[in-house]
Parts: sequence; C-alpha cells; structure tokens
Amino acid sequence: MKRVCAVTHMFDHVPLAYTHSYGCQQNVSDGEKINGMLYRMGYDITDDPEKADFILYNTCAVRENAENRVFGNLGALKHLKNRNPDLIIAVCGCMVQQEHIAERIKKTFPFVDLVFGTHVLHRFPEFLYSIFEKGKRVFELPQCDGVICEGIPVKRDSKFRASVPIMYGCNNFCTYCIVPYVRGRERSRAPGEIISEVKGLIEKGYKEILLLGQNVNSYDGGGMNFSGLLRELDSIDGDFVINFMTSHPKDCSHELIDTIADSRHISWHLHLPVQSGSDRILKLMNRHYDVAHYTELVEYARRRIPDIQLTTDIIVGFPGETYEDFTETLELMRKIKYDSAFTFIYSKREGTKAAEMDDPVSDEDKGKWFRELLEVQGECGDEAYKKYVGQTMRILCEGRGRTDESLYTGKSRQNIIVDFNGNEQHIGQFVDVKITRALNWALVGEIIQ
Ligand code: SAH
Ligand code: SF4
Ligand code: F3S
Repeated sequence: MKRVCAVTHMFDHVPLAYTHSYGCQQNVSDGEKINGMLYRMGYDITDDPEKADFILYNTCAVRENAENRVFGNLGALKHLKNRNPDLIIAVCGCMVQQEHIAERIKKTFPFVDLVFGTHVLHRFPEFLYSIFEKGKRVFELPQCDGVICEGIPVKRDSKFRASVPIMYGCNNFCTYCIVPYVRGRERSRAPGEIISEVKGLIEKGYKEILLLGQNVNSYDGGGMNFSGLLRELDSIDGDFVINFMTSHPKDCSHELIDTIADSRHISWHLHLPVQSGSDRILKLMNRHYDVAHYTELVEYARRRIPDIQLTTDIIVGFPGETYEDFTETLELMRKIKYDSAFTFIYSKREGTKAAEMDDPVSDEDKGKWFRELLEVQGECGDEAYKKYVGQTMRILCEGRGRTDESLYTGKSRQNIIVDFNGNEQHIGQFVDVKITRALNWALVGEIIQ
C-alpha cells in the first residue's frame, strides 16, 4: 500500500476510485475492504465512474442475470478507457473465480487491466503496484481454499451500521449453488478477533452490527459455536443491535433460538431460507433437512419469540421440479406465513451438480409458477404486519423514508422497516415510534416525544 501511495502522490491531482459491489452482504463487505485499501493508497472514493482514475467491479456469480449485468456494464467502460488511457479497470469477486469467465474477460475485454479472485483480496495493492510498475495486465485467480487475512483497512459505507464477517466460504454444496466453488471451504475467524472488532465498533458509536457468513450456524471458533459467540457479543454493554445472516435450517438449533430469545441486543429476526416445500426437491438440492424439521424449528422460534420476523429464500423451477412439488411450496408458504420472502427462478450454474440434471419445464411455465408464488406471498404478507398497529417500537433511524421521501426510515427490533416523521438529527439514533399504519412490506408511525 505504501508503494502505491508513493506513485499516487506523484499525480497532479488526487486520484479518484469508483467501486461497485454486486451480490450479497459478504461481497459488499469485501467492497468496503477494497475501498479501505484504496483510501490508504491515496485514492478518494467517487460515485461517478466518469471522473474516476480507477474503476472496479466486485462481482457476484449466484445467478446468470447477475453475470449478464456485469458484462453489460463492463462493455460500457470501453469508451471511458478510450477517452483516458491511464484509467485502470479491475474486476474481482465471485464471478471471475470461474475459469470460463476469467477467460472471456481476457479475450473480449482487452481494456480490463486487473482481474483477481476471492482468495487474494488482501493482495490487491500488490497487483495494482505491478500495473503501475510494469504496465501489463494482471490476472490472479488461484484456486486455493483461501486464507483469513486480519487487519485489512475498511472504509465503511455507513457511520452507524457495520458488517462483520465471522466466517468465509461454504461447505454445503447445495446442488444449484456456485458459492462453494467460488468462495472455497468454510473457515471461521477467531472469536477474539470478532469480539474486539465489535467492541471497537460500538465504542466508535456504531449502532447495528451485522454478522456475516454463508451459514453462520456452522461457525467454529475452536470450541465456541455460533450461539456462544452471540452470547459473548450480547454481553457487551452499549446501545446497539446485532443482526446476522444467513442461517441454514440444517444447523439452526434450539440453542440459537433460545440465545436470541434471552438476548439484550439480538434482533428478533430469523432469515431461514427454505428453498422448497417439497421433501423430494430438498433432497435433490442436497439441503439435509425436510419440511417436518423446518416446520418444527419455525414453531419453536415462534413459541420462544412470539414477535419474531421470519423471512426466507425460495427457488422456483429447480431441475425436475413438477407442478405437484411446487404446490407443496405454496402450501408451506400459506402455512408458515412469512413476513417476507426472496424468490428466485432457478438459474443454471456451470460446474454445479444441478446443471447436469434434466430440466424439462419450460421458462414460460417457471415464470407462471413464479408469479403464482408472488401472489401467495403477497396475501400472507398483507396479514403479517397488521398486529403491530397501535404498538410502540424502538427504531434505529437510517435515513430518508422508503414509503415517502418526506418521512424518515429505520428498523425495529424485529428488523422490520418503519417510516416515521423524523429529522436529520435522528439518523443513526434510536427513537420511539407509535405505529399507525401497516403495509405488506413496511410500517408507518409517528415519533413519541
Ligand atoms: N448461504 C445462503 C445464501 C446464498 S445465495 C444460504 O444458504 O441461504 C442466496 C440465495 O440465492 C439462496 O438462498 C438461493 O435461494 C438463491 N440461489 C442460489 N443459487 C441459485 C441458483 N442457481 N438459481 C436461483 N437461485 C439461487
Ligand atoms: Fe449456496 Fe447452500 Fe452454501 Fe448457501 S449453504 S451458499 S445456498 S451452497
Ligand atoms: Fe454472489 Fe458471491 Fe455472494 S456468488 S451471493 S457475491 S458469495
């Protein structure tokens, strides 16, 4: 970083970097580290690619449309490079960790200077220095299982919400999913590192800590499991909330639910991706749980934490899924009545097991099923939030309203979006709000003075 800094100090202006992270929170968190490193190397961050001396896309590979978007946006950078040959263009993240994608970039996007994979994020300054020094393209995509690199500088997007990865990689190999191939095997950060990072953030005034991992329930801190880690973090004094994602139902335990129920700081929110309501499909997906196990977990969570917000992910049109299988998913949705659901049409990922399976259902039919699912979720969501009207909720204010620009917005202990009549001073603070109206995706209320 020091060497790059020596180079950028010789520029006749302060160099500007534009970075964009696609995909999940884990990737966004990596993006904050990239910005942290850029900052240390003498760059200022800009949100205007037209003005940038350095442009980086931190990519996601989870579905085909995520990849197509990156290719489209990359193509559009060509004219910027023509205008400014000194512009450095970089692509990193999950997508380029796939060999065929890296090859395609090498061949069809000659104006891309730097491509590096998920396992060498911490070596980004070294790659950038090499470009300044040698003026040659750099492609660094080792297939190793990654390391944990502590101490990378972070430039956080928010002054009150902080993402804290607790583990990297995934061992689950759900048959549809590319993540284990592009992020390597599971590895957990040491509890001491996480606890001191969180303490430091709270001392600095951060109010929301978001713990990240592809399957936080398999956190292994050398004798400390995820519930143990949560209890340690919950014992820290201060005014803050803890959120986490994602929980895999196969490893979600009563102990975890009890930990949330008994906590001072942990949100009453469980994001528990079910993927399908058919045992046959769950088996083909390699999910290692069935509908009965899943339903039992949900019932236990609702018994221990009556106001818990329950959200999920669902895939429609997995290879070989029949309409009958799909109706079991609808049935489960009606039974559980999720507060909200992220729904996806299956996207074939090269190299995964599901990509080899027969997939006879047409895109048109999958589209129809998808719309049916949205309708059923819409009906359930309509009901879910009505019970909060009249209640007073403690809200962490985040910024301008989502239902109405003249309002302010934040989240409740259940992690539900709440809009209210705040002002700029409330941003980053907790306020008490009386709920007056329920939509199917948010609540609206008024501040209690
Ligand atoms: N590790 C998390 C989420 C990873 S990706 C978990 O296991 O829950 C987020 C969501 O994307 C998944 O829950 C799944 O619903 C969806 N997804 C993953 N691969 C997909 C694919 N090939 N096609 C469509 N949706 C997919
Ligand atoms: Fe993908 Fe499954 Fe791992 Fe989640 S748990 S990242 S869906 S393989
Ligand atoms: Fe996408 Fe990689 Fe996250 S594939 S969802 S950015 S781990």
